[in-house]
Amino acid sequence: MGVLEGKKILLGITAGIAAYKTASLVRLFVKSGAEVKVIMTPAAKDFITPLTLSTLSKNEVVSSFTEDDENAVWNNHVELGLWADFMLIAPATANTMAKMAGGTSNNLLLATYLSAKCPVYFAPAMDLDMYQHPATKKSLDTLQSYGNILIPAESGELASGLKGEGRMAEPENIVAFIENRLSIDLPLRGKKILISAGPTYEAIDPVRFIGNHSSGKMGYEIAKQALALGAEVILVSGPTGLALEAKELTIIRVTTAQQMFEAMNSHFENADILIAAAAVADYRPKTVAAQKMKKKDTSLQIELEPTIDILATLGKQKTHQKLIGFALETNNELEHAKGKLERKNLDFIVLNSLNDKGAGFKSDTNKITIVSKEAIKTFELKSKTEVAKDILKEVISLMHE
Ligand code: CTP
Repeated sequence: MGVLEGKKILLGITAGIAAYKTASLVRLFVKSGAEVKVIMTPAAKDFITPLTLSTLSKNEVVSSFTEDDENAVWNNHVELGLWADFMLIAPATANTMAKMAGGTSNNLLLATYLSAKCPVYFAPAMDLDMYQHPATKKSLDTLQSYGNILIPAESGELASGLKGEGRMAEPENIVAFIENRLSIDLPLRGKKILISAGPTYEAIDPVRFIGNHSSGKMGYEIAKQALALGAEVILVSGPTGLALEAKELTIIRVTTAQQMFEAMNSHFENADILIAAAAVADYRPKTVAAQKMKKKDTSLQIELEPTIDILATLGKQKTHQKLIGFALETNNELEHAKGKLERKNLDFIVLNSLNDKGAGFKSDTNKITIVSKEAIKTFELKSKTEVAKDILKEVISLMHE
């Protein structure tokens, strides 16, 4: 999942040859999980059809204040501006840029630009001499002085046949530019987070194991939200049916507590934050039968030995890292959670009580209490997505201490 996922993008298209490239641009945005609405200047329709753009964006394309059929509706430029997380004007012609700089509002695109409160990116496209003209340079400077973000034109062959600067940045480069810009301000950018998730399985024989009902959902959700906040994530996952993919994510799949420890241990030193959401088995069979154990009429005893306590072991090695653990309790919840906070040398612990309805392993919701040395914060029953956000908010405030 990238920074563009779920973003609402208002794409303004003006009348330049490069307008034909906006079809790819819309496709790239949609593929990244963004929603796109398109506004065109009337003249831009000579370069690309509204039908192409509405098909690719799956949204209506607008270009004037009223549509020209008998059921005319007024296209509300203020509403469009408020809807968007950001506006992108691409291609931005010399004509439109001059109007934007001067405050002219003689079409829907310009009126929307003037009323938009969201960040505005613009990607100029024109011939090389037009790009070099002092008037254009003045527009570029003025627009940037208003806080608009310039996506510089690229060099190459121009529609006129000339070669030079003025070509609209390629759609891939526009997307990369915006992604980069959006991730600069993310609060966990540059932070490495190590997360454990899911259960561990401890073998009894080649076909049987001791395990637990952990689904891994909480840990995966934390990983997903941490990525959205700009973190680099290493997710050490026990056996789950879950999958997650992202550029800044490494998933290490393990089965046993020992394997989980080894994976966590090898990445601990370079991590900034460790969040242990896994339900690690506390015991494992002392010996693993080499062959499938046969049924007998007598009772069966399996001798168990403790597994390594991953979090407590890493808690002892902690230097600069922030450590967050989970505690699932059924009784004397706070007391037990505080005990673990201390024993495992944690910065805070996320307490789930099995006495709370909707909390626990299989559900999509959770009800947590965050316990640190200084404070106890209780939260409402929420979706695991929202719970993950609350936990990460707490982590971010730890980073600022
Ligand atoms: N944990 C761990 N390694 C273990 C056991 C637990 O890293 N072998 C981590 C869990 O991921 C969790 C926290 O420690 O973040 C608390 O786990 P829990 O099982 O509740 O605590 P225990 O120390 O095992 O205590 P108890 O079973 O007695 O409640």
